Amino acid sequence: MHALPFNQHLAGCGQGLKNIDYYFKANYMETLTDKDALTVIQERKSVRNYTGEPAGKEAIDKLLRAAMAAPSAVHMMPWKFIVVTDIKKLEKLAGGLPFAKMLVKAGTGIVVCAVATEAAGSSEEFAILDCTCASENILLAAEALGLGAVWTAVYPNKELMDFVRKELDIPQHVIPLNLIPVGHPTGDEKALDKFDAKNIRWQKWGGDF
Ligand SMILES: Cc1cc2nc3c(=O)[nH]c(=O)nc-3n(C[C@H](O)[C@H](O)[C@H](O)COP(=O)(O)O)c2cc1C
Repeated sequence: MHALPFNQHLAGCGQGLKNIDYYFKANYMETLTDKDALTVIQERKSVRNYTGEPAGKEAIDKLLRAAMAAPSAVHMMPWKFIVVTDIKKLEKLAGGLPFAKMLVKAGTGIVVCAVATEAAGSSEEFAILDCTCASENILLAAEALGLGAVWTAVYPNKELMDFVRKELDIPQHVIPLNLIPVGHPTGDEKALDKFDAKNIRWQKWGGDF
């Protein structure tokens, strides 16, 4: 990326240029990386360490567009997305979610909400499956943009679901599936190689290629 030497150059130029520096980090660095789709899939990882630099609005918009490009049963798209950037709200959410402490430093949280009444057959199962597809798209799009993200659990823990509902005024019939912190990664995390040929069967269970 060309932004790094430029930012380093700006770093010595005083407080007045901080806004320009921020502009570059928020808008320039979040343009698409040149990774192809399969590389993005292989390099996606759960990011739990963030620089503190928030993701720009444009990038968040791209994540939400990716989310809504997901497949859904009978094309019902039973999803809603709550984007939280208010620091006080982020602190409140992180305080009540045991595995989402990184949320505050990430700077943005996306709560993926499943609406069973809008799903195929008004099914909670379909709503959750569809929203899981949308969530994975967010995680992949973040990787493609050079951002970091991680699925943090809300569903199926009833206490956590009620906590998130209360904090974000989500109606009782809506399922907050997860909370996805999004931000700039420090680079500490690397993708895991999970491929295991033993997980593959051909033709039938127990069948060999
Ligand atoms: C349903 C689900 C719930 C998860 N919950 C959390 C969580 O609460 N906190 C967290 O840090 N990571 C959570 N993760 C991320 C997993 O820990 C992570 O995907 C796994 O360790 C593999 O690492 P990777 O994503 O880097 O490949 C969750 C992932 C899934 C799919």
